Amino acid sequence: MSLLKTIAAAQKRLAQASVDNPALDARLLIGHALGLDRASLLTQEQRILTQEERATIKYLISRRAAREPVGRILGQSEFWGLPFGLNEATLEPRPDSETLIEAALAFLEKKKEKWDPCLRRDDRKEKKSLHILDLGTGTGCLLLSLLQELPQATGLGIDISPRAIDQATTNAKQLGLEDRSTFQTGDWLEGVDEKFDLILSNPPYIPSQDIAQLDPEVRLFDPKKALDGGTDGFDPYRTLIPLIPSFLRPKGIVVFEVGIYQAEPVKDIMKRNGFERIESKADLSNIPRCIIGQFLD
Ligand SMILES: C[S@@+](CC[C@H](N)C(=O)[O-])C[C@H]1O[C@@H](n2cnc3c(N)ncnc32)[C@H](O)[C@@H]1O
Repeated sequence: MSLLKTIAAAQKRLAQASVDNPALDARLLIGHALGLDRASLLTQEQRILTQEERATIKYLISRRAAREPVGRILGQSEFWGLPFGLNEATLEPRPDSETLIEAALAFLEKKKEKWDPCLRRDDRKEKKSLHILDLGTGTGCLLLSLLQELPQATGLGIDISPRAIDQATTNAKQLGLEDRSTFQTGDWLEGVDEKFDLILSNPPYIPSQDIAQLDPEVRLFDPKKALDGGTDGFDPYRTLIPLIPSFLRPKGIVVFEVGIYQAEPVKDIMKRNGFERIESKADLSNIPRCIIGQFLD
């Protein structure tokens, strides 16, 4: 069978399985199986595939037809333009979470006089470094993307899942960021004895009873610990926000990801706990996705 016919058959199978982007996913998986990029797939459409190649493609397409996400099948997902390895204990990083990186960088840029030392500059003599904490780090995508942007910064990533910590540690090595990052297993802030300029968290925030209605890609393949935010989805915010001020250096900031309809209630919890300059930032679908606030005391 030719490559062209194989692509068409794979696309049809994925469409029948109600996969969102059957054409794109078929090409990504077939390209991966054959070691070909998009352009080569086009130029080699008439090539006849070997039996072994067809068997590999069949296996990958059947996994996607069972609604396993492409990133999980490939074992890697891209975030902030960087590759992040995945395992069964890590959430697959979402493009929406890049809003947190944009918000944190914008806030630091605005406060240039204060945070100058950590911005992308080279004259850094006598300057203190920015110290970042990522709570519920998963693949480490939030912390490691910021460290990549802020060459003087250092950071700690914490996750309750030891397997997620293994993966984040591997990702840090692969990105050459292991000297500036530490990852440790823990229950939120338990056992943390340092203070930070910036605390980030994309906590689990789906109400428990809503998980059964999520797409199979999420419900069947993302770890429950990464999704379940308790009865109303706010448990992690209620736990973390009152604790965070004791872990912030003076004028430190906190950046949270929130789910749909969660922005205002999370802002209220932050206000009640003494945070100021509270702002939200919308994602590409115009949903408030990120809340940022500063603790001035
Ligand atoms: C929504 S995922 C976010 C992962 C990653 N930061 C990202 O943005 O892709 C939430 C993470 O919080 C972790 N987590 C859940 N409860 C936790 C707890 N009590 N203490 C530390 N981490 C926790 C989960 O294991 C999961 O990795």
